Amino acid sequence: MKAAIYNEVGSVEVLKYEDVPEPEISPDEVLVRVKASSLNRLDLRLRSGKSPRPVNLPHVGGVDIAGDIEKVGRNVKGVKQGTRVVVSPTVKTISHKTGGADLALNKVIGVNYWGGFAELVKVPAENLVEIPEGLSYDEASTLPVCYVTAWYGLFDRGGLKPSETVLVHAAGSGTGSAAVQVAKLAGAYVIATAGSDEKLAKARKLGADETINYSTCEFADEVKRITDKRGVDLIFDQIGGSAWEGNISSLAPKGRLLLVGVVGGGAASANIGPIIMRDISVLGVTVFNAELSTLATVAGLAVKGELKPVIDRAMPLSEAQAAQKLLEDRAQFGKVVLNP
Ligand SMILES: NC(=O)c1ccc[n+]([C@@H]2O[C@H](COP(=O)([O-])OP(=O)(O)OC[C@H]3O[C@@H](n4cnc5c(N)ncnc54)[C@H](OP(=O)(O)O)[C@@H]3O)[C@@H](O)[C@H]2O)c1
Repeated sequence: MKAAIYNEVGSVEVLKYEDVPEPEISPDEVLVRVKASSLNRLDLRLRSGKSPRPVNLPHVGGVDIAGDIEKVGRNVKGVKQGTRVVVSPTVKTISHKTGGADLALNKVIGVNYWGGFAELVKVPAENLVEIPEGLSYDEASTLPVCYVTAWYGLFDRGGLKPSETVLVHAAGSGTGSAAVQVAKLAGAYVIATAGSDEKLAKARKLGADETINYSTCEFADEVKRITDKRGVDLIFDQIGGSAWEGNISSLAPKGRLLLVGVVGGGAASANIGPIIMRDISVLGVTVFNAELSTLATVAGLAVKGELKPVIDRAMPLSEAQAAQKLLEDRAQFGKVVLNP
């Protein structure tokens, strides 16, 4: 089969479109013929060797996968060949000590195992969610990481309430474009940031009430102006280090900061005083700890049109290098999808 594979980590040129052996399934696994696999920033970090979770080489990335069931392992019940499925990437691991699922031991398809940038991928049967009729493979492939992160972050970690004001950073990112929509769906007032007015105009179309171009002003000053100095209740932040100080000063008393990503660096020095005095909560968010049911929830909302998968473009898998370059150049709005 064809795959976008790399034998060494480095710049985008290490990514090759080549023939590789087809995966062989175990009795508990299912073989999926990939129809669409969307890109995440994570794919770039893994390929460049900058991820704290390094991959085993050679590696085929692709965490977000949608396709058809091609073959079913002999122990697998209730799963039929030909079913259209979207794959939850988290492979839950049972602890030998406790007998329960252990978050710290979880593995991820596309990170610890070969992923969806290939014609075929093998996955555990329990990771499958049927794609609702009316939702395309391309659309379904945008959901497992970005939309589940937005849902899990804003609700499960952030406890978002309808009357609240939310600041969503990098609204043109895959994750940010999902978070704007999820926050609006919850009834929140949404302030979105991005690095260009063009991306901000698109964020408004997704429902953002206010927008801030962080490449032309200090976002924290704008947040204070928009909120009459009160600050926001919740921040969905994929930027990390370079936004830390502005984030803390943008929060209202009892505000919560969701740390989702680190495109602006993973280190920050904290002035702890304001965090204590304003009862601020700082919360980590990892999509790979979300429940499988969240994927079914966002897929159900997507088919009803209540959430809109934002696809910048779909490209053939053979153009995987060019696709990753788009993300590297911050040139896309929403998701880029690869079709084998
Ligand atoms: N914790 C989790 O479970 C989870 C899940 C999904 C993603 N993430 C993380 O969230 C972040 C975004 O992921 P994604 O896949 O949504 O990204 P993406 O689609 O590639 O978008 C990233 C956007 O971030 C903005 N950005 C701001 N500062 C940047 C900088 N210094 N370098 C590069 N981009 C910068 C850019 O938009 P502008 O041009 O508008 O600035 C860029 O387009 C990543 O750190 C990713 O690892 C975490």
